Amino acid sequence: MTTNKSVLAWIDEMKALLTPDKVVWIDGSEAQIEALRAEACSTGELIKLNQEKLPGCYLHRTKVNDVARVEDRTFICSRKEEDAGPTNNWKEPQEAYKMLFDIARGSYKGRTMYVIPYSMGPVGSPLAKIGYEVTDSIYVVLNMNIMTRVGAEVEKVLGDSEDWIKGLHAKCDIDPEKRYICHFPEDNYIISVNSGYGGNVLLGKKCFALRIASYLGKCEGWMAEHMLILGIENPQGEVKYVSAAFPSACGKTNLAMLIPPEGYTKNGYKVWTVGDDIAWMRKGEDGRLWAINPEYGFFGVAPGTNVKSNPNALQSTKKDTIFTNVVLNLDDNTVWWEGLDKNPPENALNWKGEPWNGKTSTEKGAHPNSRFTAPAKNCPCISSEFDAVSGVPISAIIFGGRRAQTTPLVYQSRDWDNGVFVGSIMASETTAAATGAVGVVRRDPMAMLPFCGYNMGDYFKHWFEMGEVLGDKAPKIFNVNWFRLDEDGNFIWPGFGDNFRVLEWIIKRCEGKVDADETAIGYVPKAEDINLEGLDFSIDTLRDILAVDNDLWSKEAEGIEEFYKKFGDKLPKELADQLASLKERLSK
Ligand code: GDP
Ligand code: PGA
Ligand code: MN
Ligand code: MN
Repeated sequence: MTTNKSVLAWIDEMKALLTPDKVVWIDGSEAQIEALRAEACSTGELIKLNQEKLPGCYLHRTKVNDVARVEDRTFICSRKEEDAGPTNNWKEPQEAYKMLFDIARGSYKGRTMYVIPYSMGPVGSPLAKIGYEVTDSIYVVLNMNIMTRVGAEVEKVLGDSEDWIKGLHAKCDIDPEKRYICHFPEDNYIISVNSGYGGNVLLGKKCFALRIASYLGKCEGWMAEHMLILGIENPQGEVKYVSAAFPSACGKTNLAMLIPPEGYTKNGYKVWTVGDDIAWMRKGEDGRLWAINPEYGFFGVAPGTNVKSNPNALQSTKKDTIFTNVVLNLDDNTVWWEGLDKNPPENALNWKGEPWNGKTSTEKGAHPNSRFTAPAKNCPCISSEFDAVSGVPISAIIFGGRRAQTTPLVYQSRDWDNGVFVGSIMASETTAAATGAVGVVRRDPMAMLPFCGYNMGDYFKHWFEMGEVLGDKAPKIFNVNWFRLDEDGNFIWPGFGDNFRVLEWIIKRCEGKVDADETAIGYVPKAEDINLEGLDFSIDTLRDILAVDNDLWSKEAEGIEEFYKKFGDKLPKELADQLASLKERLSK
């Protein structure tokens, strides 16, 4: 346990507020973690799974009303409302503290307060940052222990420093009417009450590593982004790294771990995973942009994960994994979800814990946002640079989303500033990762709409500033869309491992090894430059999904103009200029 005065003073405050019966300091030792697993099993908070087939694996079910992030109950509590901006909910900080402390007061009575010291990023890395989360949930402790680097080492590195982030989580009654996820960027403080769902309560992840960190990044000159990081190794053994921002449940985990098509693997191409959800990026000594993954595990979407779509993710969940809201197979005490295989169990419990028969039931067995929490080190293709303190150099940044129409399979921005524009106009169909309607197209700039901890107009400005800082060493910027639909509503592009064909084009563009066609929105590949070998996919269909339809894009430009109005004076002039140039090119 630490002697850090600022930490001890806050823990005393928390004890007085929450009145736990007991305080347990998490040191991250296996003995302590194992005792907590056993305790959670004894109360039903966790179910121990078949230890022969799934060693170290457990199942947890959340409350039925508590299965996804709650964007409408997420607040940025900056002193000035303008600093939260038009895309965030805002509360005045003093009012918010009072409301939240009133809700949390006394709520640990009869319970244990767990104190979790954790590092986002390799312990001791100059890019890492430290947080403390207090919680009354063993599920949170065990998940944080997978998702972040937890324990005594972290406290040693922190020493007496006051540079750490406070996180208060209190389950309370899981009352959805009193559920609040609040961030105080100016105070380095996060408070989350009345939820037990990962995205709302694992405070190192979205709350710290994106909302608070994006604000710190603006102040300190670096970037916290909703991006995967992967390395592409060519047959000569050279590795190039790219990062990619897609909205939640739009393919980050899958792309981060993809296995290239057979023709490529035979020749020695490989993909290495550095991160699947969050990137912290900073200019390195060589002038390039370097990225770390601040996390230590994967909090992945279970449905759709199978041996064909994402074998590496599936393999990652075979040991020491916590499953949330999936099906429990009662015959062999293992788990199942939609899209795992074609053999749903007949004797099972659904995600709510109700009897469920996969052969006869019309309802889904797993929740569409059911998740696995798996240690990153389980992943067969984890990068050798996963723990590298200075991260990896980024050659390309890729934006993308779910668009049935309009957006081509891939295009490249004209330059950095145009790339910032491309990121700012991202739009994607909503998914089950957040509560609310699914399948509605919404603007989600840089996939950061739910995660930007300050005014998004200022966030755009920060991107332009980073472009200036990086100059000609800045990564090239691309946009992809794996989700174009045909008239029958089927995905046209095979996706998954075959996305490597697009990555190959992107890397070739970065190396100046392939030409492209200029369109109104940017550079698109010549169809013959996307390798279709070994794939049953016609080049004409490829041409269709690479085409830029100027009529559709003119409508898109109107939508962008409407969206930009939100930002008023905060919209950087560069973006207004970019939109004007796009319109001009479209009118030609
Ligand atoms: P993340 O939340 O951004 O990490 O997204 P995931 O990688 O977990 O994927 C979310 C959902 O999209 C899953 O159901 C995947 O099966 C699906 N998905 C991922 N990549 C592709 C793709 O290339 N094509 C299609 N059609 N679906 C994909
Ligand atoms: P995802 O992560 O991006 O993998 O879905 C969780 C989330 O964004 O809620
Ligand atoms: Mn995410
Ligand atoms: Mn993911």
